[in-house]
Amino acid sequence: MKTLAVMSRKGGAGKTTVAVNLALAARAMGVKALLADADPLRSACEVLREREEAASLLFETSAAKLFALTEACRRGGAELLIIDTPAAPEMDVSEAVKVADLCLAVARPTYLDLAAAVRSVAIIQRLGRDGVIVLNQCAPARNGVEPPAVLKAFEALRFAGLPVAGAALRSRLVYQTAFAQQRSVLEIDGEGPASAEVKALFAEVWKRINGEKPAPVRTANDDLARPWMIPRAPGVTFVQPPA
Ligand SMILES: Nc1ncnc2c1ncn2[C@@H]1O[C@H](COP(=O)(O)OP(=O)(O)O)[C@@H](O)[C@H]1O
Ligand SMILES: [Mg+2]
Repeated sequence: MKTLAVMSRKGGAGKTTVAVNLALAARAMGVKALLADADPLRSACEVLREREEAASLLFETSAAKLFALTEACRRGGAELLIIDTPAAPEMDVSEAVKVADLCLAVARPTYLDLAAAVRSVAIIQRLGRDGVIVLNQCAPARNGVEPPAVLKAFEALRFAGLPVAGAALRSRLVYQTAFAQQRSVLEIDGEGPASAEVKALFAEVWKRINGEKPAPVRTANDDLARPWMIPRAPGVTFVQPPA
């Protein structure tokens, strides 16, 4: 069994959105996936508890119980356990990081979210775990051109010490309407763009968690390669860009 911890110190970054959509995407692709809601706010439970398969999909848990829960899921034959974490003090989130094969740090392309992502990187590196950053709520591209904030976030994160997922999620109303219907975007967006980006993110995460390391993502516009908004956190290793 593989374990994925979805994290961000920032409330509203999209942890629950990513965790729930990935769990349901995994199941749609035939992976025996479970979701552990380790956030006392219980947002993932709010979305999923009325679903028919809730009893075999969803666990309410806490940092203190995570290790035992992970072992129980492993013994129960699960293939993937996704942990939705709170925007809580480091101690709580560390427990999820410790049991994770891969940590997914969720960040919107904003200064404060990237600052929170850098803090997540620091925790992941300190605990010696593998991690990936995913951008969420990216503004839509116009005529195929990425909004500058998204490009700059990608570029800034080149210095953050962890790879950035090539599959970013855009800001789309369907993420909110799906939750209001207790569903994933795959279930209401069919072959639409939200569904496609969630599937692409799942494919990337699943490969990485199973040991495949994709090549680092390069964005089209290297002229924007300025670490203009990457804040520093103690203990983070900054990777120098190639000359
Ligand atoms: N890509 C997205 N597009 C549109 N709305 C989003 C997106 N991601 C998250 N949201 C909305 O933003 C709010 C916060 O997201 P949530 O996943 O609960 O964040 P967190 O768990 O990090 O606090 C929710 O109302 C959610 O529906
Ligand atoms: Mg949440």
